[in-house]
Amino acid sequence: AVYPWAAVIAAYLLGSLAFAVLVSKAMGLKDPRSFGSGNPGATNVLRSGSKAAAAITLLLDAMKGFVPVVLVKAWGPRYGLGEGTVALVALAAFLGHLYPVFFRFQGGKGVATFIGVVFGVHWLLGVATGLTWLVIAFFFRYSSLASLVSAIFAPAYYLFGDRLQWYAETPIAAALFAMALLLAWRHRANIQRLLAGKESRLGAKKT
Ligand code: G3P
Repeated sequence: AVYPWAAVIAAYLLGSLAFAVLVSKAMGLKDPRSFGSGNPGATNVLRSGSKAAAAITLLLDAMKGFVPVVLVKAWGPRYGLGEGTVALVALAAFLGHLYPVFFRFQGGKGVATFIGVVFGVHWLLGVATGLTWLVIAFFFRYSSLASLVSAIFAPAYYLFGDRLQWYAETPIAAALFAMALLLAWRHRANIQRLLAGKESRLGAKKT
């Protein structure tokens, strides 16, 4: 069948749109790859000083995960696409963000796209994961720490919330777990900075 692969490729291409770079360019701001952590993500766009640009980047990067998941959930069954394809498009969009074909495979860390995926899987999962991020960010003032903790908790929330349908939803649980691992891998420099007490705090201008 061609549909699953068409959906996966479309999700990967959508994920490959590095909105941190595109939004900064459109708004006349410096390329986020050239300052701060160098990461093309909402957190680093915030270091440019524009909260609006950061918010737009966060929203659009989240949409890259949300839209494919919601579309396959809504329309997939008509084309014989089930939970397995939901899991695959989520992973494809996420991998597009990390390794974008349009940006020499030099992408971001996946936090916003991951949040979009979890909101697409179930709004309550999105709220739980998003709240975890906000609580950690509020108390510790590290975006990276909030991202790491919420990514680790998301698969656990998912298994807890859907434990009655655990067998049917195994592909999605596996995809969430794989994304959490990849997200942690992409934060390895942040983890080292956190351990060394050198990570930049939210609200501080530059690293
Ligand atoms: O969005 C990624 C965030 O968790 C950390 O970003 O720029 O501080 O490495 P940054």
